[in-house]
Amino acid sequence: MLLRKNIIYGAIFGVIIGFAAGFLIRGVLVKMELKDAHRQISDLQKQIAMIKTAIPPLRSLAERCDIYIGAAVERSLLDISNYAYTLKQEFNILTTENALKFGPVHPSPDAYSFDDADYIIDFAESHGIRVRGHTLVWHQQLPNWIMQGKYTREEWINILRKHIVTVVGRYKGRIYAWDVVNEAVSDDGTLRDNVWMRNIGPEYIELAFRWAHEADPQALLFYNDYGAEGLGVKSDAVYNLIKWLLEKGVPIHGVGLQMHVSVENPPNTQEVAANIKRLSDLGLVIHVTEMDVRVKTPPRWEDLVRQAEIYREILKVCLSAENCKAFVMWGFTDKYSWIPSYFSGYGAALIFDESFMPKPAYYYIAKVLIEHLTLASYDQELKFQ
Ligand code: XIL
Repeated sequence: MLLRKNIIYGAIFGVIIGFAAGFLIRGVLVKMELKDAHRQISDLQKQIAMIKTAIPPLRSLAERCDIYIGAAVERSLLDISNYAYTLKQEFNILTTENALKFGPVHPSPDAYSFDDADYIIDFAESHGIRVRGHTLVWHQQLPNWIMQGKYTREEWINILRKHIVTVVGRYKGRIYAWDVVNEAVSDDGTLRDNVWMRNIGPEYIELAFRWAHEADPQALLFYNDYGAEGLGVKSDAVYNLIKWLLEKGVPIHGVGLQMHVSVENPPNTQEVAANIKRLSDLGLVIHVTEMDVRVKTPPRWEDLVRQAEIYREILKVCLSAENCKAFVMWGFTDKYSWIPSYFSGYGAALIFDESFMPKPAYYYIAKVLIEHLTLASYDQELKFQ
């Protein structure tokens, strides 16, 4: 009896020890595997860092390609050292993301709030970065005194004129390009029904350009919009509007293609090229002004590669058009981007990840710039033969 009991206990004990040993060995093996994976990742990171130091910063490649490369910037983020470092290292143009919009800069009739824009522009100047001012006339981010204002047409005209002359005048000679009018055309090609249209009428567009030009004759003045990058009802309407303004002698120098796109719905590059061509034929400069390529989160590796291809294709189109002179993204790190809060379930739209590490899109952009340089110097050599 006792013997049987001992045998049973012994067997149970043996099984427990067996399991325990099994777990222990498995634990050690998993730990070893993890350690190995860890080592491989850190080796890979070192290799990437080495490759990265071998590639010149985007801005120096872009300069040699005679194009600006840039990003939209927020004042508060300039206090973050990684952010400020990457910005000054990689880009030679920036756009004020929110600081110069009507609401933030002109919160009440007699008060302007220039601190954020001043700070960003000082930063840009001390690092040899050009500034795109964004934006003087838009239907969003307006202060309450505008949204709920009741004025006569003449008063509305004076309000807009004073706003433009004050803001543009303050930075005279310091802002390279202004998005004077933003998103004035609706998706169906008609002029958007906004506060300016309702109270001033369609003339608000040409007036805005004329006042901005008076306040800073050197600044390049842009019409900027989304969904008008390729061909279609909206881009035809933008084209016709600008053509008509030019014929009237309105000082408008460029068109901004915002280029907020997604991996599922990429722009048609041939159409973008054709649109840039017809705008260039009007004598206009073209800037890609707000590019981001959103993906569903969490991003899969293949989406990031597809995203890189989309950035590459648009940059290629821009580089091959003589009048396309800037390639600006709406931010640069996935840590700070408007996408997650405006497009639910989407993110990872920019070229650096949340830890400021370059993503595939960064390398594709660098590669396109390098290829462009190589081709250009090859062409040059042919010319001298
Ligand atoms: C966005 C900013 O990125 C956000 O921070 C803000 O809350 C809303 O506006 N088109 C434009 C930009 O012209 O001004 C918008 O910027 C993005 C869409």
